[in-house]
Amino acid sequence: MDINGEPRVAVVIVAAGSGTRLGADLPKAFVQLAGQTLLERSLHSVRGMRHRGQTVIVAPETRLDEARGLAAAVLSGSVQVVAGGETRQQSVAAGLAAVESADVILVHDAARALTPSTLFDAVVDEVVATGDGVVPGLPVSDTIKRIDEDSTVRETVDRSQLAAVQTPQGFPAEVLLAAYRAASTDETDDAALVAAIGHRVTVVPGDAHAFKITTPWDLRRAEELLSASLMPRVGFGTDTHSFDPSAELWLAGLHWPGETGLAGHSDGDTVAHAIVDALLSAAGLGDIGEVFGTGDPRFSGAHGEVFLTETRRLVEAEGYRIGNVSVQLVGNRPKFAPRRSEAEALLGGILGAPVSVSATTADGLGFTGRGEGISAYATALLLR
Ligand code: CTP
Ligand code: MG
Repeated sequence: MDINGEPRVAVVIVAAGSGTRLGADLPKAFVQLAGQTLLERSLHSVRGMRHRGQTVIVAPETRLDEARGLAAAVLSGSVQVVAGGETRQQSVAAGLAAVESADVILVHDAARALTPSTLFDAVVDEVVATGDGVVPGLPVSDTIKRIDEDSTVRETVDRSQLAAVQTPQGFPAEVLLAAYRAASTDETDDAALVAAIGHRVTVVPGDAHAFKITTPWDLRRAEELLSASLMPRVGFGTDTHSFDPSAELWLAGLHWPGETGLAGHSDGDTVAHAIVDALLSAAGLGDIGEVFGTGDPRFSGAHGEVFLTETRRLVEAEGYRIGNVSVQLVGNRPKFAPRRSEAEALLGGILGAPVSVSATTADGLGFTGRGEGISAYATALLLR
């Protein structure tokens, strides 16, 4: 345990197989699934874990640099990349040799690319609570027959006693290391070796999304599952600032010499701030106050470009690209139309996407109509 009483967790991801049954022209973990490799997707699952620790990636000898690149892009903690062996078990053994110090070790197949982070955490929690080896398992729904080599059916196996087990499988670290030292057979999972040294292994509920991508049909199924989450995301944001005669006006990223400025911790650019909120909300990243913090001295007096550039980085880090942004400001002045295309070009360049800016007055009604300030309303579309 670490000083906070949290278990030190190491996750070994085996990605060194060739993928014979998938039949692609490259190793399975490096095959693309809706724009990301299977390995990359597995690393995203690790990144989403509540438990933190070391990650060891076991990759084919020829792909170590590629694996290092993917790891650097996705993970921030301690990562080792090592070369795998002839069999899965040899690959896991290579990964275990790179584990530094851990209380709990999880072993995961990169081929189970859609495994939710919550399953990783649930396995860790169960290992900590019980000290057992823990495997996720699902009930078997087909009737299972034992057959002879000549295809003769010998018997029906009682499926109520069976579970189809998945990964991540988790173990107290010293138990898994002892099981690997003692291994005398080649098994297809780690629990088999742990059971062989007489340590108890228990099953926790698995997850249908943790299925192993083995055949081209599995890859298609994974693509179809993902396409449901590839829907565009829309976001909405508003902002209002009051006029401050002592300030310079910055609006839609532009400086407006001679116009009355807006009050605010930053430069008061309502148009930029409404866009930031629309983008953050589309990505599910909260809002401008949460992300940038009005108390943060880095943003005191900052121009819209600073917020927009950082917001673009954040939404792109979540795997989105900006489709387009539409924003309307409500206020009596400045007269916006003469600088509309200048504003659209500037904002579009910062965000790397089309930005439309429109302006209206409020027919003399309300605070904008009375000329007390400016509001802006923005929508944003994000694409995967
Ligand atoms: N694995 C590994 N090293 C091996 C064999 C397998 O790291 N020598 C990994 C695979 O990359 C995969 C996991 O173990 O993430 C489960 O193995 P499997 O689905 O059988 O993958 P492959 O062995 O690559 O596929 P196949 O058996 O069809 O060749
Ligand atoms: Mg295999």
